[in-house]
Amino acid sequence: MSKLKIAVQKSGRLNEDSMRILKEVGISIDNGKDQLKASAKNFPLEIFYLRNGDIPQYLKDGVVDVAIIGENVLIEKGNGITISEKLGFSTCKVSVAVPKGVKYNSVKDLEGKRIATSYPNTVNQFLEKNGVTANLHIINGSVEIAPNIGLADAIVDIVSSGSTLFKNGLKEAEVILKSEAVLAVSPQISDDNQAILNKLQFRLQSVLKARQ
Ligand code: PRP
Ligand code: MG
Repeated sequence: MSKLKIAVQKSGRLNEDSMRILKEVGISIDNGKDQLKASAKNFPLEIFYLRNGDIPQYLKDGVVDVAIIGENVLIEKGNGITISEKLGFSTCKVSVAVPKGVKYNSVKDLEGKRIATSYPNTVNQFLEKNGVTANLHIINGSVEIAPNIGLADAIVDIVSSGSTLFKNGLKEAEVILKSEAVLAVSPQISDDNQAILNKLQFRLQSVLKARQ
């Protein structure tokens, strides 16, 4: 029998929230912490634990059928992938931040500046829309350190509680977008697996309703 292949974040906040909601819809998975793939015991489902940034490509290629992923990652590199359900958890913002003592009045202040980010497409779109030209430094993590080591004048990164910004002497200057976890679907999903997805989604919707 066919199984629905679902991707979730391998580790991190989205992982915990994703596993919690799967549990709440009655799907139990037994897996050792280091297993990158596991099967549900009572539902035709296989779970793949992947890096966030790799998930959009796996969806495009049809390697997985669906994913629980941050909307922000889809906006960055998820062209053509459909969102079939907003899940309401793991909310965050993608924001511009600058050193605490620096004045920021508007996006125009970024003209000619160096911006460190892991979200180059999102930043470029934002700058273009506002007619601003800046220099991007693309880094994969610990972006908030960039201004302190003289690598950038500003950053664009995820803000959740705001504590990483605070600890690094930065302040949120502008919100580019707001994001939450979503259920994203591969354009290549088979009819059989779409039928399984419909069942899963029906269960998710009742859990989400109960959470309200
Ligand atoms: C994420 C994100 C921010 C931080 C935001 O980083 O890139 O840095 O969390 O959360 P906060 O506002 O609650 O502090 P993460 O800790 O996942 O590490 P990474 O950037 O090195 O991947
Ligand atoms: Mg970070």
